[in-house]
Amino acid sequence: MSFKPSTVQVIKPVTPTTATFRDDIFKGKVVLSTGGRSGIVYKMIRVMMLHGADSVIMGRNGPENEKAAAQLSKETGRSCLPCQADVRKPEDLKAAAKKAFEKYGRIDFVICGAAGNFLAPIEGLSENAFKTVVDIDLLGTYNTIKATLPYVRETQGSYIHISATLHYRGLPWQAHVSAAKAGVDALSAVLAMEEGPRGVRSNVIAPDESSTSLQEYKRACLPPKGDRNHDSMPLGRWGDGDEIAAMAVFLFSDSANWITGQVFVVDGGENHVRVPQLPYPQAVLDPKSMMDRIQAKI
Ligand SMILES: NC(=O)c1ccc[n+]([C@@H]2O[C@H](COP(=O)([O-])OP(=O)(O)OC[C@H]3O[C@@H](n4cnc5c(N)ncnc54)[C@H](OP(=O)(O)O)[C@@H]3O)[C@@H](O)[C@H]2O)c1
Repeated sequence: MSFKPSTVQVIKPVTPTTATFRDDIFKGKVVLSTGGRSGIVYKMIRVMMLHGADSVIMGRNGPENEKAAAQLSKETGRSCLPCQADVRKPEDLKAAAKKAFEKYGRIDFVICGAAGNFLAPIEGLSENAFKTVVDIDLLGTYNTIKATLPYVRETQGSYIHISATLHYRGLPWQAHVSAAKAGVDALSAVLAMEEGPRGVRSNVIAPDESSTSLQEYKRACLPPKGDRNHDSMPLGRWGDGDEIAAMAVFLFSDSANWITGQVFVVDGGENHVRVPQLPYPQAVLDPKSMMDRIQAKI
């Protein structure tokens, strides 16, 4: 028999985690998140709830948090507690963790996902703007760990930190977030070493650039369709937030009990293609024309 390899690109479908994992694997468990009212972390919380967990979502915008919590409960039938908190303020996070414990009596899983980002070259980035992103992404992760660790030790639970892949190479206009995410990766590894002997695990998920306004912003300045890097991604398409959430389900499950201190890239192989995401070197040599081009398209 002769096997003929496909000459057309195979694109596999998005498959829900409920088709793979039991829908009660997190029954009786509680997952707390920063950044859970939107984007990728919202999807992670939703999927965790579909597998039986109750949840806590934290963010600065109280009304939006409440709206998202109500929607999550409606979609999953589980309880979601909204807590207004700024990850730059340790007292906010400690109060939210206490409130979560008072409501549910436990915290098993923590997703550190709150982040901010924008495009700017170093020369156009103020010291304060750089610090703000590091404060939210990196210091905010540290503050979240500090506020929740006493509870997570009790349940011998697990952390997932949301990082990125952009700091694996020197991506122009992303100095602030690259520095912050490299710090998040390092912090998670130390947490894994320090808390592993107490049964607490810590891992990182590094997503592709799937679904945010920043992504739209970036798409606006990419070359025309056909030349764009997602057309040549190994798995042939952008990811769906649910596919990033699927990694969280696995990492929080008991099947991952021997996995800690690791970074998991979930990006359809995009990281290996390594195409610069801004026209290069134009973005560096003439940032103003680049910015004008972006502004005109959004
Ligand atoms: N989407 C992508 O393309 C991509 C790619 C790689 C990595 N990531 C990472 O994945 C995570 C989620 O990204 P996303 O794009 O899906 O998120 P997003 O929709 O932009 O949401 C960011 C979330 O963070 C919260 N947040 C921001 N600043 C905060 C603060 N100071 N205190 C508390 N909460 C704060 C926001 O809520 P409030 O406004 O209510 O505070 C919001 O819910 C981030 O860590 C991001 O760096 C995303």
